[in-house]
Amino acid sequence: MIVGMSLTNGEISGVAADMDEGRARERDRRYVWHPWSPVGGADQDRPVLVSGQGYRVRDAAGREYLDAMASAMNASCGHAHPALIAAAERQMSLLPHFDLSVGTHLPVGRAAERIGALLPQGLDRTLFVNSGSEATEAAVRIAHNYWTNKGEPRNRIVTFAAGYHGTTYVAQHLSGLPTNAVYGGEPFPVTRVRPSLPPRELRRPEALPVLVEEFERAVLDGTPPAAVFVEALLNVGGGVILPDGLLRALRDLCDRTGALLIVDEVFCGFGRTGRMFGFEHDGVAPDLVTMSKGLSGGYVPFAALTTTEAVYSSFAADPLIGGLRYGHTTGGHAVACAVACAVLDVIEERKLVEASAVLGEQLLAGLRPLLDHPEVSDVRGLGLVATVECARPEAAADLVAGARAHGVLLRRQGTAVMAIPPLVIDESGVAELVRVTGQALAAL
Ligand SMILES: Cc1ncc(COP(=O)(O)O)c(C=O)c1O
Repeated sequence: MIVGMSLTNGEISGVAADMDEGRARERDRRYVWHPWSPVGGADQDRPVLVSGQGYRVRDAAGREYLDAMASAMNASCGHAHPALIAAAERQMSLLPHFDLSVGTHLPVGRAAERIGALLPQGLDRTLFVNSGSEATEAAVRIAHNYWTNKGEPRNRIVTFAAGYHGTTYVAQHLSGLPTNAVYGGEPFPVTRVRPSLPPRELRRPEALPVLVEEFERAVLDGTPPAAVFVEALLNVGGGVILPDGLLRALRDLCDRTGALLIVDEVFCGFGRTGRMFGFEHDGVAPDLVTMSKGLSGGYVPFAALTTTEAVYSSFAADPLIGGLRYGHTTGGHAVACAVACAVLDVIEERKLVEASAVLGEQLLAGLRPLLDHPEVSDVRGLGLVATVECARPEAAADLVAGARAHGVLLRRQGTAVMAIPPLVIDESGVAELVRVTGQALAAL
């Protein structure tokens, strides 16, 4: 039973016409184009969700689920958090937004100041956009333009082939994941590092020299790159944990070649890996950081990128406006900025980063014995992101379906089954997640 669910049963029956699962599915099948989904509704049994509270969500038929996907891996403060709703309502009634290319508003400065205070010294100039993909898009353009501004044009980007940085044309072009191949020409050169070691071996110390050598080759062979663009943990690439020291080595490589180090914290940022940012595990300071998901906790679309004074001030050389020729109508939306500040309050007050580290260890310890199952090839985790890698994609799909039948929503990316619960999950939620995943695996 969900305590304090935002919709009571009475309210649900009061709007029964809209809550009817069958009608919702029919409308969906007829009118909605779902992203990353087969045409024709071959996956029509997707859950029809109507409300949420904390780390649980409820569907139109009244079934409850432990949301071990944190929605789109972004509901870090959980669902229906009163402080986040209040922050949105307050700002909505004061001033929803004002164009930041003309004026400014109070929440944008507050949000930028708060983000700057969390990042390493020197990273305090923030541009706000609406999605992780837009943050990637802006980061690549900024990296390219930075070199043009300096009078030494560079446009090559070095990245992981199994990295994922979003779904605009530019963002998708970075990735070498098969589903991310873009149609049409190459907008700029990208060198994608394909590690010679399998994902389950990449977190070991012995993988470090191998990966460093592969990145050195990618950076040093060819024209000098504008930037090295990486995640601190490969999320969509399968929850792949990288060896300690890799980001330090990439920092060094960038310092030697002048390339900007861009770390994509869209997924890892704001506590997901048990640190405020994923790069903190390696103690490095990137030149540019992209952020989204956990920044607004999924309450409103929001993303940011923060960079250094050196990068920012280089834009004074732009011949047309003496600044950045990039921006969106709703970038730095006042409601989103206000929600982000409230999210940061919740993270601090509830010590969610520390909780992510402690509960993440419990989650991993609970899931590790699943390695004995013949369908499981690896169990890995960092903070509150745990991955059970299956030997076959079919087994991964069955595991996710079995867990859902028992009230737990897991995420599947190829053969990787991922548990990414809201950071507000508690010990009993972790125990339930472990138990149901184990039961679903045993039933395969
Ligand atoms: C690491 C990373 N970067 C970028 C993105 C793209 O963000 P969005 O879906 O908000 O465009 C994602 C989305 O999953 C991501 O995991």
